[in-house]
Amino acid sequence: MRIDILSLFPDMFQATLGQSIVGRAQEDGFLDIKVTDFRKYTTDKHNHVDDAPFGGGAGMLLQAQPIFDAMAAINEQTKATYPKGRVILLDPAGRRFDQAYARELAQEEHLTFICGHYEGYDERIRELVTDEASLGDYVLTGGELAAMVMIDATARFVPGVLGNMASPMGDSFSNGLLEYPQYTRPADFRGRKVPEVLTSGNHQKIREWRIRESLRRTLERRPDLLETAKLTSEQRIILQD
Ligand code: ADE
Repeated sequence: MRIDILSLFPDMFQATLGQSIVGRAQEDGFLDIKVTDFRKYTTDKHNHVDDAPFGGGAGMLLQAQPIFDAMAAINEQTKATYPKGRVILLDPAGRRFDQAYARELAQEEHLTFICGHYEGYDERIRELVTDEASLGDYVLTGGELAAMVMIDATARFVPGVLGNMASPMGDSFSNGLLEYPQYTRPADFRGRKVPEVLTSGNHQKIREWRIRESLRRTLERRPDLLETAKLTSEQRIILQD
């Protein structure tokens, strides 16, 4: 997957996307991430990328010109290899990002993220985008952190990124529920024992216990998820117990 990021602060991405799983996925060729400083595309002689809103009001807006021209340059570089893709504008008024959205984006071959700063965007920038996405109901100082979170969560669904053995499908949210509790050695840690069923070797019992605990945890912590989760018949039977 190719990922382009338009940002005024390219250094912010080095700290996270160059490390750990996403960093390794780039080295191994599963992800190709490029950050473009769109200030380089401004035609303003002072290199400004923002201006005051017509009609007055507080704050500054990102201007259309640098974003349009940076996008044209990216399209020129990528259109032969990645003719299709999604262009995502980070905006607190956008579609709320969640695990289903991450899985949807992971189907694409090319994603472009446009990160704003200042108070907002010139409305004409929205012509360039397929998506407007928000991380949640709060306002960040810019779209960079939101883009990093979206890229990290999306990358986990890109084949190869987690390695061959791991699967993101058992994660919390992937089946609409929170994950069941897990334990590793020792079986008795300072008197705190692992539930006996997990060391019983009875795989059917372990399966049922995990479904039950996953449902219990979701009911306790996020009952809202149960309203939309598509439960299997096995999960429904256990929930009714
Ligand atoms: N930019 C500022 N706040 C944001 C948010 N909550 N989500 C996405 N982009 C943003």
